[in-house]
Amino acid sequence: MAGQKTFYLETFGCQMNVHDSEKVIGTLEQQGYARVETEEAADLILYNTCSIRDKAEQKVFHRLNDYKALYKKGKRFGVLGCVAQQEGERIFERAPYVSLVSGSASYRKLPEMLVQIENGATRVTGLDDRQTEETFETEFTARSNPHRGYITIIEGCDKFCAYCVVPYTRGKERSRRSESVLAEARRMAETGFTEIQLLGQNVNSYKDPEGKRSFAELLTAVGEVPGIRRVRFTTSHPRDFTRDIVEAIDGVPALCDHVHLPVQSGSSKVLRLMGREYTREQYLERIGWIKSAKRAISITTDVIAGFPGETAEDFEETLTLLNEVQYDGVFAFKYSPRPNTPSLSMPDSVADEEKSRRLQILMEHQREIQRANYEKHVGQVLETMVEGVNPARGQVVGRTSQNKTLNFTTTQLIAPAPGVYVPVRVTKTFPNSLVGEAVQ
Ligand code: SAH
Ligand code: SF4
Ligand code: F3S
Repeated sequence: MAGQKTFYLETFGCQMNVHDSEKVIGTLEQQGYARVETEEAADLILYNTCSIRDKAEQKVFHRLNDYKALYKKGKRFGVLGCVAQQEGERIFERAPYVSLVSGSASYRKLPEMLVQIENGATRVTGLDDRQTEETFETEFTARSNPHRGYITIIEGCDKFCAYCVVPYTRGKERSRRSESVLAEARRMAETGFTEIQLLGQNVNSYKDPEGKRSFAELLTAVGEVPGIRRVRFTTSHPRDFTRDIVEAIDGVPALCDHVHLPVQSGSSKVLRLMGREYTREQYLERIGWIKSAKRAISITTDVIAGFPGETAEDFEETLTLLNEVQYDGVFAFKYSPRPNTPSLSMPDSVADEEKSRRLQILMEHQREIQRANYEKHVGQVLETMVEGVNPARGQVVGRTSQNKTLNFTTTQLIAPAPGVYVPVRVTKTFPNSLVGEAVQ
């Protein structure tokens, strides 16, 4: 690649970050850069970072430290994403060999920022304030999977949960025009995509700036784009979860039978301390709507263990909520104190070991619920989208509409290609995956 400018990009964090990276890669390629697979081979090394929990943030600084020797070889470093927005110019103090610090709201300015770095600038920043109205829309998105792709429909967050950095790292809530979302969905369908995943920190807080479509109407419209067989959306906020979303899933077969609805805690008291703007009862009412759908809709959630002020009784309420809802998946996290957030200054009498213990109990409890839930699939035939093969096991790896992993065997000589849909009969289950045989 003599003479060609090269970059290496590594992504940490959520799907929004993964998709931002696809847009950043597209933008860099447009600017004449070629992507390479190792730090050593790159002129420009970029980390798209996450600061949701302390561990995620530390990972970035470790990584920067591991590779700082490369700076002497003339390489340049850039920090993008949520740590960049959160720490801003302080990153230059902590890691002086970094030349670029940019939050997600400034990526539209990447082409100019790249030119500045190429001209030798050593402290280039893109740090829009929280009030920015900008969204990052580009036709140069380098999607990594040719069958399944993301579309961000709403950026930022205005909810300010007491523990969370996102409102500070991603700016205020701003939605894309539904016409623009639909145009992108149609373009994707024309180029062979069959699955679309709509993204937003609170995807269902979507508000069409032109007022043409509600979130449920946008879901329906994307689900009706010719060629699109699956539509997913994540993450839904319980406060903004309305009944018409379930009606849309009922009415449009392409809308997947899965809702991720983070609860965080089963105790109304803790939910109030967190500033979640719903009670246990209101959350369970929404679960009731989802469970009364015509199709069985899989429900998953996020839970925080050991939030400041969480008593043993509060924690018990989270366990009973898991029993009531019967989730198909729970992402459980130990509370992590984060900079700038209100919960940092809340009195916290829960010892760290107790937080870890609660996290452990929660995960074990959920594992048994999931074991029983997954077992119910034995004998069912589920449509499965092929993702790849596991040669060691001689299995094809697929995913169901409910977003469950289904590993299966086939009597065909050639395994079905990624992106193909195959009906599979479930023969065996684990707490986190299904096993089956392709139905010929
Ligand atoms: N907008 C989504 C969540 C996005 S962050 C929602 O409101 O549901 C993803 C998850 O990280 C959260 O659901 C929460 O469970 C977890 N999380 C966020 N901040 C955290 C913190 N300070 N400590 C531990 N977990 C946290
Ligand atoms: Fe964070 Fe709450 Fe916003 Fe979710 S809704 S991103 S948890 S502040
Ligand atoms: Fe992390 Fe930022 Fe996403 S903090 S979870 S990368 S919004």
